[in-house]
Amino acid sequence: MPNPEEENPLPKVSSAPLIVDVEFTEIEDDEIEKNNTSDSIQSSSVHSPMELPSSLPSPKNRARIVTVTNQKGGVGKTTSVINIAAQLALRGYSILVVDCDSQGNCATGLGVDKSKVSITTRDLILNPESSINSRHATAVDNLHIIVGDKTLIGLEQEMMRQLGRERRLKEALQNLLPYYDLVIIDTPPSLGLVTINALVASDGILIPVQTEYFALEGLALLTGTIREVRSLLNNKLGVDGIIMTMHTNSLLNQQVAGELIDNYSDLLIKPAIRRNVRIAEAPSHGIPIHLHDPSSAGGKDYQEITTILEKRWGLI
Ligand SMILES: Nc1ncnc2c1ncn2[C@@H]1O[C@H](COP(=O)(O)OP(=O)(O)O)[C@@H](O)[C@H]1O
Ligand SMILES: [Mg+2]
Repeated sequence: MPNPEEENPLPKVSSAPLIVDVEFTEIEDDEIEKNNTSDSIQSSSVHSPMELPSSLPSPKNRARIVTVTNQKGGVGKTTSVINIAAQLALRGYSILVVDCDSQGNCATGLGVDKSKVSITTRDLILNPESSINSRHATAVDNLHIIVGDKTLIGLEQEMMRQLGRERRLKEALQNLLPYYDLVIIDTPPSLGLVTINALVASDGILIPVQTEYFALEGLALLTGTIREVRSLLNNKLGVDGIIMTMHTNSLLNQQVAGELIDNYSDLLIKPAIRRNVRIAEAPSHGIPIHLHDPSSAGGKDYQEITTILEKRWGLI
């Protein structure tokens, strides 16, 4: 019997590109310190066992796009978007917040009345030509917002029928990028199509993690999604940092923080944001913590975090 392998040999498979350059090296304590204080984003090498890829430096001549995400609800995504965006705007940068969550809390927290807004993130995604007109001023100078609202519910279903459905937001934002220093996207607590759109559009991801029991498990799930998006839709996507939120001195919080430091030393941004009532009450006044009570523990923590991000994002 002829051997089909001899006549028609199978072409050799080329090796699949690795998602990340994994280097399992022991990191000395003083090296961790060095990494933590480094001013710029490192190249895409990863030391952590869960292999979260680092992001690339900001592109020249256009805004960096950063998505703040974690599929867990109530971990401080929206609070971090509002306060980091506002702090950067107060420092003189032009910032655009894009709220992709149907709860629309970014608008409320920045003093914008959602009920008076007619063009929202839903319109931005469905009609990219509406991008310029979809922006609204906020209670903070230099800080604009594209408002998310309940019309985002059901959008994923509608998008399923559309071609290029994962890239709609990326395309819609293109026109706006020359006018801003940073675009920061808030996401819903899910890894659905809207969050995928945000990841496809982004240069970097910022992950707020509450220092509670399931933090590492949640990060593992997110890691899988980031890898998939990287290999299929956006090979430049990487993580800008992990921030610890609602942190207290409890033993559990300290232990989880310790585990995060052990696993993600180079991506972890310190200090942890302390649980602080002034942060929780600021949105009820429609202002960020830096206008409500800048000298509170939460105000100081967000200022320190913002200073590190300002450097990582190449703003200074
Ligand atoms: N550092 C903090 N201290 C106290 N409360 C906080 C802090 N960060 C967030 N919160 C509160 O926790 C709740 C959930 O935060 P939020 O930012 O809406 O989370 P997510 O967007 O991830 O669902 C909100 O009521 C918020 O005011
Ligand atoms: Mg939120």
